[in-house]
Amino acid sequence: MNAAGSPFVVRELHDDILVVTINHPPVNALGSGVRRGLLEALDTAEALPQVRAVLLVGAGRDFLGGADIREFGQPPQAPALPDVCNRIEASTKPVIAAMHGAALGGGLEVALAAHYRVALPSAKLGLPEVLLGLLPGAGGTQRAPRLVGAQAALDLMLSGRHIGAAEALALGLVDRLAAGDLAQDEGLAYARELLAQGAPVRRTRDAAALADRAAQQAAIDAARADLARKPSGLFSPGRIVDAVQAALDLPFDAGLARERQLFVECLDSPQRAGLVHAFFAERATAKAPEVGTARPRPIHAAGVVGGGTMGAGIAVALLDAGLPVTMIERDEAALARGRANVTKVYDGLVAKGRMTAAARDAVLARWHGSTAFEALADVDLVIEAVFEEIDVKLAVFAQLERVCKPGAVLATNTSYLDVNRIAAGTARPADVIGLHFFSPAHVMKLLEIVVPAQVAPDVVATAFELARRLRKTPVRAGVCDGFIGNRMLAVYRQAADHMMEDGASPYQIDQAIRAFGYPIGPYQMADLAGGDIGWATRKRKAATRDPAARYVQIADRLCERGWFGQKTGRGFYRYPDGARHGVPDPEVEAVIAAERQRAGVTPRAFSDDEIVRRYLAAMINEGANVVDQGIALRPLDVDVTLLHGYGFPRYRGGPMKYADMIGLPQVLADIRRFAQDDPVFWRPAPLLLRLVERGANFDSLNQPGATHA
Ligand code: 3HC
Ligand code: NAI
Repeated sequence: MNAAGSPFVVRELHDDILVVTINHPPVNALGSGVRRGLLEALDTAEALPQVRAVLLVGAGRDFLGGADIREFGQPPQAPALPDVCNRIEASTKPVIAAMHGAALGGGLEVALAAHYRVALPSAKLGLPEVLLGLLPGAGGTQRAPRLVGAQAALDLMLSGRHIGAAEALALGLVDRLAAGDLAQDEGLAYARELLAQGAPVRRTRDAAALADRAAQQAAIDAARADLARKPSGLFSPGRIVDAVQAALDLPFDAGLARERQLFVECLDSPQRAGLVHAFFAERATAKAPEVGTARPRPIHAAGVVGGGTMGAGIAVALLDAGLPVTMIERDEAALARGRANVTKVYDGLVAKGRMTAAARDAVLARWHGSTAFEALADVDLVIEAVFEEIDVKLAVFAQLERVCKPGAVLATNTSYLDVNRIAAGTARPADVIGLHFFSPAHVMKLLEIVVPAQVAPDVVATAFELARRLRKTPVRAGVCDGFIGNRMLAVYRQAADHMMEDGASPYQIDQAIRAFGYPIGPYQMADLAGGDIGWATRKRKAATRDPAARYVQIADRLCERGWFGQKTGRGFYRYPDGARHGVPDPEVEAVIAAERQRAGVTPRAFSDDEIVRRYLAAMINEGANVVDQGIALRPLDVDVTLLHGYGFPRYRGGPMKYADMIGLPQVLADIRRFAQDDPVFWRPAPLLLRLVERGANFDSLNQPGATHA
């Protein structure tokens, strides 16, 4: 039946129903071969008199995972997905879609073009194009509103959220919830029923959910007002609303043409390139060399040493993944605080109605506390989160070595300390690894997996497997001061400090960085994290600081006054009455002015553009060093670190992708210009120089087998 057809689309006659199975692993993305196969299948169905209905199903885990994201930005290949959808809808024989697994984006649009829809209870439906900087461009913006109304359609398209089959049924997105668990069987049963009833071809283009114009217009206006109230900097949401407006105002075919135009605008936008890069990059970081080559050690029970900010958050992350957790603290009082820190998180969920009290109690029953390290004798993994002091850490690891069973993974959450030294301090360095969580550890997605010299490959594989279980985004990092993220932060924060001393206020810098797309600026971030931690680090490193390097002391002056940020009510900002968002502080401006004078600086004006350029150039340059020195495997690992741990705007793809988009020669020219005033700080990274010389970009190093040399 499939003679010369597409290898990705299998046609099979079941009595008078043509079953069309899309088989394009892993997620049945609608690449050109699949699209061609679908058209051929529709033609076949039309041509064969014995076929009375067509059933569309997906092979494997999913119905259809959407358009093939790898094709975006490439020359278009016929047939286009909108044409395939139109062909399905135009069929003179009823087409039924039976969905299981993911039915997303273009995949759901195919189903919307079918005449009847059935979904297994486990199916996940959605129009997540907005997350890639796009809009549903295969008729989705025209068909979904006609089927479920503007409000529900806009909610799906603007949030990109996946909904379960039951919700899809309630919305009218599907006609029936299947009882069984085989999409083909359920679809065949439904198709037979429809044929027996003589059910007609029923086209979504003729559906009437937009009939009440006034209500629909109100929903569109509300969505537009909402976007204006909460500006996200994203390009495609506004175009999505425009497309739904077209669905209301225009005949179906004219609406499709408008959708096409808006889709192409999104496709061509740099945001689409940034978001698609982020999508693939965060999947690539999970595939470290050790993953798939070494077998992860089983983890059935975990321990956490330290129940402070990080230890408690890490304990929650482990509990959420279903593991029993044993927490060790210095004394009973500290242990009680550690337990309270954990309980507080779950109490908060109960108070918000997101968890029942019974579920909280069940989770907390898996938490155990002790002041004796012996309680860790049976755990498979320990994560240490005690004070950031090498002697304290070494003493803890000596205890772990003494009590833990052979083969237990011993991890440190240190932010800056030398993981090689911590490992070498034990008799089992092959079991020691860095697991650098971000605060709050149960919320933040990033997990830097810090790989010391002597660690066993299966311990690295275990760390990646743990990240998967914790639903974290892992990035493999080498050992150095600050690993990938904190090392880069130290450098671009210095660039900001230089600007502050040279004349920009911290408030202007924060505002310029927010306008670039960050949720908060560097000085708001410093106030949030607490100035005391950085101050202690600076004091510790004072003796080894390069005397030729510029050192801005403004933050030290604030810390000397006890202005540590939000927790003390003032830092770079004031926080009157515990206000979450700070207000500018004239006294801080006076401190800055005095420091400028002390340093002999005549303040000058900075444009927001210059602020962003300097901040980003410092970040990109250090990112290049981090890659060149093997601390990050590839530029994309730097991107994912900054996206998930440091608030870099996702629609810009990460600093290295951003550098590629503005062009590396431009970045290098900026650095050379800045170096005229400060050649010590602004030293072009050797990798950046080499790439510019070769006319290459960072992305060339993301390709498998690429080398830096
Ligand atoms: N196109 C191309 N490749 C895709 C893809 C797609 N739509 N969706 C997933 N993949 C790839 C992934 O990159 C990954 O590849 P790898 O193994 O080489 O790393 C592989 O498929 C498996 O993906 P996941 O690791 O994400 O698998 P999960 O099982 O965790 O999740 C999923 C499956 C829910 C389908 C998830 O992959 C997903 O959300 N995919 C994107 C869905 C999407 O955004 N679709 C809309 C596309 S835009 C569109 O349709 C435009 C249209 O309106 C015209
Ligand atoms: P914290 O001060 O809030 O907590 C440390 C806890 O360790 C305290 O409760 C203390 O009682 C306990 N502790 C100290 N010595 C101990 C010992 N010998 N045995 C058992 N418990 C002991 O510190 P925080 O912020 O949680 O930091 C912990 C570690 O995590 C540090 O290494 C830090 O650098 C790192 N880190 C911190 C981040 C942050 O944002 N706070 C982010 C990522 C890593």
